Amino acid sequence: MSIVFTEIAKTFSLHTSKTTYQLKIGNLNYVNHLYYGATIHDEDLSYLIRRYDRGFSGNPYDSLKERTFSLDAQPQEFTTQQQGDFRINSIEVQNPDGSFSFDGRYIAHKIYPGAFTLKGLPTAFATDKDTVDTLEIVLEDAVTKVQVTLLYSVFEEADIIMRAARVHNGGTGEIALKRIMSLNMDYMNGGNLDIISLPGRYGQERQVERQPLTHHVHKIRSGRGISSHQQNPFIALVEKEANEEYGSCYGFALMYSGSFLAEAELDQYDQARLVLGVNDRLFSYQVAPGEDFDTPAVLMTYTHKGLTAMSRNYHNFFRNNLNKSKFVRDIRRPVLINTWEAAFFDFDDVKLIEIAKAAKGMGVEMIVMDDGWFGKRDDDNSGLGDWYVNEKKIKCGLTELVRQINDLGMKFGIWFEPEMVSEDSDLFRSHPDWVMEIPGRHAVRSRNQLVLDVSRKEVQDYLITSINAILDSANIYYVKWDINRAITDLWSNALPAGHQGEVSHRYVLGLYRVMDGIIKTHPDIMFEGCAGGGGRFDPAMLTYFVQYWSSDNTKPLDNLKLHYGSSFLYPLCTMGAHVSQASSMVPLETKAAIAMCGTFGYELDATKLGPDEVAVCKKMSDLYLKYYDINFFGDYYRLANPFENVNLVAWECVSKDKKEALLTVVTVNLTVNGPQEYIHCRGLEPDSLYQVEKEGSGVVLTASGMALMHAGIPIPREIPEFTAFMYHLKSL
Ligand code: DGJ
Repeated sequence: MSIVFTEIAKTFSLHTSKTTYQLKIGNLNYVNHLYYGATIHDEDLSYLIRRYDRGFSGNPYDSLKERTFSLDAQPQEFTTQQQGDFRINSIEVQNPDGSFSFDGRYIAHKIYPGAFTLKGLPTAFATDKDTVDTLEIVLEDAVTKVQVTLLYSVFEEADIIMRAARVHNGGTGEIALKRIMSLNMDYMNGGNLDIISLPGRYGQERQVERQPLTHHVHKIRSGRGISSHQQNPFIALVEKEANEEYGSCYGFALMYSGSFLAEAELDQYDQARLVLGVNDRLFSYQVAPGEDFDTPAVLMTYTHKGLTAMSRNYHNFFRNNLNKSKFVRDIRRPVLINTWEAAFFDFDDVKLIEIAKAAKGMGVEMIVMDDGWFGKRDDDNSGLGDWYVNEKKIKCGLTELVRQINDLGMKFGIWFEPEMVSEDSDLFRSHPDWVMEIPGRHAVRSRNQLVLDVSRKEVQDYLITSINAILDSANIYYVKWDINRAITDLWSNALPAGHQGEVSHRYVLGLYRVMDGIIKTHPDIMFEGCAGGGGRFDPAMLTYFVQYWSSDNTKPLDNLKLHYGSSFLYPLCTMGAHVSQASSMVPLETKAAIAMCGTFGYELDATKLGPDEVAVCKKMSDLYLKYYDINFFGDYYRLANPFENVNLVAWECVSKDKKEALLTVVTVNLTVNGPQEYIHCRGLEPDSLYQVEKEGSGVVLTASGMALMHAGIPIPREIPEFTAFMYHLKSL
């Protein structure tokens, strides 16, 4: 059992293979946080909490004359302001009498095997190789009878703890949740922490930012209704000294696809607190007596072995415990060509067949018909919502088109943008009330489209029925599920005035229901997510999508940064990456080597390539297949930081048995008459001898793992800029 309750000390010790998390039913039945770090035994660590009479930090009434017990200074598992804790908090609830009090004290707990699940929200699951146990701790406010259950599932081998909170209204009147966080994480000594986050923008998602945690509230958030291009729902708190190979790193990833909030604060006593959950802005959720509210789950991990090990824990977990689709591991994903940058809206069935025929010679195995095949959709001003085939473009019909593509020996994929509607569409004309628009106002347009009120059941049902009808009408192998705007005008015509604060969250729940009804009912179709690139690339989406389109920016050099940043949380096998026509100064080989740092494909008009270019593409598609297993299932190492190193960028994937590795180096700038550069491998078997083969040049070196890691590999100079080298290391 990975969870140990010690009756006398009243401690809960949650053990993963390399970490321990400890909490305790403490003074006055408040639940204290005691420890999260490298493995310790089950001993009671409450000696770490020192109590002082702190001025202006008040004491709960029932601590009587005891002035040293203040929630303002105690490390806790779940926090609330009204009991004298003035730091950022977990909950704000308005009770039927108008008060905002919640005084949560321990009343019960249970421990059981397996992972918890949440109502309407995705969670990670245990595989038959995992040992997983769950702890539930119930806190109750004695006056209002509102309960909060803290949920912890311990994935022992994976070194991951999944957390969430469930509010139960055990009282007699309706309550309004104004804020409810999934996780509260306290550090008794937080003065030495940095925050790492993944900010960005459209076309430049998931860049990396590191800043010291200081005495103010740091907010990382999306208020855009989607997890967003601008921030990813991920935050790491790391020791200032932490680097790729060394140092304490705490990672927190929220499994949620809507507006989220992470707040971190260094308090007056240099203790740190982090909360993470649904964004409380424009949020107010009514919970009727007897009802529950579940927060989304957080996946947290700890390691003292630096950033690589933190990312590794997530990479392994995301590959094993989020998505049961056979396309995650059991079926190799095909090399694809997408029509978007090839033709935009300007295509018909004949053009698609031409692209497919031309792409065949490039080693492409699947053509994806992107936006423009349905309704009246010749540009981005119309047609969204009308999920039926435009037979002016697809003259032979979808079933026949797919048959002809299949006859070429290729698979077929199709694009949808389910949550959106164009004002110029049959759907909008027949159901204008299905859009998110506040009565008496005009909704914000973005890309000239409006957002469907996906919180409504009839909208969800329409989407499930109409999209499934298309999927079932032809031999479709793949779906790209897009969303091309943020969500504004939070309003649902289906909800009374007092419930409008629920719309943003209900939208996300509705979306998951639609995805359950389409994705989970089509296990033979491979689904890729997209949000104008990577605007909703998050762990919850990966429970549905085996891969996510990383960015609309296909410029290869920008992608070096994008992949580097994304890799803090996401494994390569989840990152959609294509070779495109962007950046003509970068050779095709280099573009392809960079796209192999993800799920490989093309985004160009294959009919316009010359025979030499087709041959290069074929060679690179073959290399992608050759290195598929190392890239998709191996251990990934960031070797050179593209935000710091202006000369070259490098990364490496090492097979789990360390017998093979693929090292990729891209020169982005070669200074004239500059120094010799070396790349130091990582993760090899020190005493094994490796043969180093440079793709295209044969064996260039034989050296021990030790030498390759500590002395490095010299990178050729006097070569054209933007050259990529792929070194295949094989142990002899
Ligand atoms: C945004 C996506 O990121 C693109 O790849 C493409 O699918 C367009 N939408 C189509 O509208």
